[in-house]
Amino acid sequence: MCGIVGYIGQKNSLPLILEGLRRLEYRGYDSAGVALIDGGLTIRKKAGKVSDLVNLIGNEHLEAQLGIGHTRWATHGEPNDVNAHPHWDCNNEIAIIHNGIIENYTTLKKKLQQVGHTIRTVTDTEVLVHLIEEMYKRCNDLFTAVRLALLEVEGAYGILVISTREPDKIIAARKGSPIIIGRGDGENLVASDAAALIEHTRHVMYLEDGEVACLTRNSVVTKTIHDEEIIKQVDEITYDLEELEKGGYEHFMLKEIHEQPDSIQNSLRGRLLVNDGTVKLGGLEPVMEKLVNTNRILLTACGTSWHAALVGKIMIEQLAHIPVEVDYASEFRYRNPVLQPTDIVFVISQSGETADTMAALKEAKRKGATVLGIVNVVGSTIARGTEAGVYIHAGPEIGVASTKAFTSQLAVLGQIALLLGRKRGRLSQEVGKALAADLASIPDKVKKVFSHEAQIKYIVEEFKDVKNFLYLGRGSNFPTALEGALKLKEISYIHAEGYPAAEMKHGPIALIDENMPVVFIVPKDAIYEKVLSNMQEVKARKGRIIAIANEDDTEVEHIADFVIRVPRTYSYFGPIVNVIPLQLLAYYMAVARGCNVDQPRNLAKSVTVE
Ligand code: M6R
Repeated sequence: MCGIVGYIGQKNSLPLILEGLRRLEYRGYDSAGVALIDGGLTIRKKAGKVSDLVNLIGNEHLEAQLGIGHTRWATHGEPNDVNAHPHWDCNNEIAIIHNGIIENYTTLKKKLQQVGHTIRTVTDTEVLVHLIEEMYKRCNDLFTAVRLALLEVEGAYGILVISTREPDKIIAARKGSPIIIGRGDGENLVASDAAALIEHTRHVMYLEDGEVACLTRNSVVTKTIHDEEIIKQVDEITYDLEELEKGGYEHFMLKEIHEQPDSIQNSLRGRLLVNDGTVKLGGLEPVMEKLVNTNRILLTACGTSWHAALVGKIMIEQLAHIPVEVDYASEFRYRNPVLQPTDIVFVISQSGETADTMAALKEAKRKGATVLGIVNVVGSTIARGTEAGVYIHAGPEIGVASTKAFTSQLAVLGQIALLLGRKRGRLSQEVGKALAADLASIPDKVKKVFSHEAQIKYIVEEFKDVKNFLYLGRGSNFPTALEGALKLKEISYIHAEGYPAAEMKHGPIALIDENMPVVFIVPKDAIYEKVLSNMQEVKARKGRIIAIANEDDTEVEHIADFVIRVPRTYSYFGPIVNVIPLQLLAYYMAVARGCNVDQPRNLAKSVTVE
């Protein structure tokens, strides 16, 4: 959701904070603001993007060695100048920036107004700064005041607080929203995401829920909100700055689509043992016995990661013969799921910070299941909150529409399925070798799909003005259809639905006419002929068909209006290749319609509120 960044040291904090905000903008782009302390408190904030804030500041000479900055994804209060962060207290002394939601803010607001506070905005965040002001009166120490205030708060927060009365400190706290502290030499930084820190330091400390930190130039003191001192370990960030840049591509999404041969390779590297027909996943070793002997696996996630889970179910059930259930993480905890101690729950998340997925993780743990992670961001809350797990190693994903994380999640789920199939004796070594070789060939197959980019652009010209799209597929290509439809919706704002191809005749067929483009994912697998029949049904009703079909298919072209060719794979792994043209179709459609691909309206990269 929102991005937050703070700096204390000897440099001018403003350029540093603005650069940090630019890197965090994918987390929210409704408004941006900074608060600086240099004698007094200077606040500049503006609705819109970080560039609008930069324009507002213009040539103004602002210099301060302590500052905080925020880029907002609005929850309470419309995205305008007034509701933009930072917010400040009655005396213009304390400033706060916040990522999360203060759930009991109406109760707190009433109490604060009764004791004379003037609250200027409708945001939940402003209430918190007045509460801190109230506590500050009692203890005259910002660190303590923040702690005391947070004891009264219900909800989620990652906050930074500064005060002109203690101009040598930034107070940071977290519950539910990430806070990472970057340790420097004579300077310290803090942010919601390592992306804002990496240019300055690789040494980081992750705050946990219920922890508060006091940063000065030379020190970081950490406590729980109940005043117990804690010693935090310093970790190292391993990825590079270039990985966060666009590298010559027009958008992060396009760059990330093109990175997939490498990112998939990275998910397989050192794990896939082609000659032995099996897989080695060190992260799962501590729980391997439980995993191999379980009678039930649950996969839970949101959005694109949920689509990966749907494919994962088919992979694991088919290859390892373990029953698998898939749940939206946002539904899981509210349906009072029945869990046994022998159940394995995998939570899948690119960011590792999704609030709904985090809530599902906690619920599964509370109910005694073994909870494992399939996560991209190393050191993220979900990665740290699970008993064991597998990193997908896709590298930083900045584009709001997830692409390379999806294919790497599938590469990891495919490996888990193969490993369990072998360990449970369901797959012979020969079959294991064939499957492993097929997985190993996928990065090259993905590369081949890029040779059809010009054709995809041509197809986009035909369809860029339509209002609706249908995506149809069967088996593991039904989730692929869902993913294709989600990509199109997210970035081009065209209404799109994914359906199992055979379900079309039970309702959606009523929508088919000459204005309805239908994307069929129709590889030559066991249900190929059935899907061809579904295509005929669309054709008979004048629907226009774009088919994603294998290179050696000679039948599809007689039915479809356009055919995009993809190399063949085993059906279990097919979605990893078949989704690539769908990502490109959505991308070029959004570009042709003039949409902001990397920052689609109303969305944020990481959804850290429930
Ligand atoms: O970081 P996560 O994988 O937990 O995120 C889950 C969803 O919010 C995410 O996949 C979202 O649906 C993307 N915008 C899809 O492109």
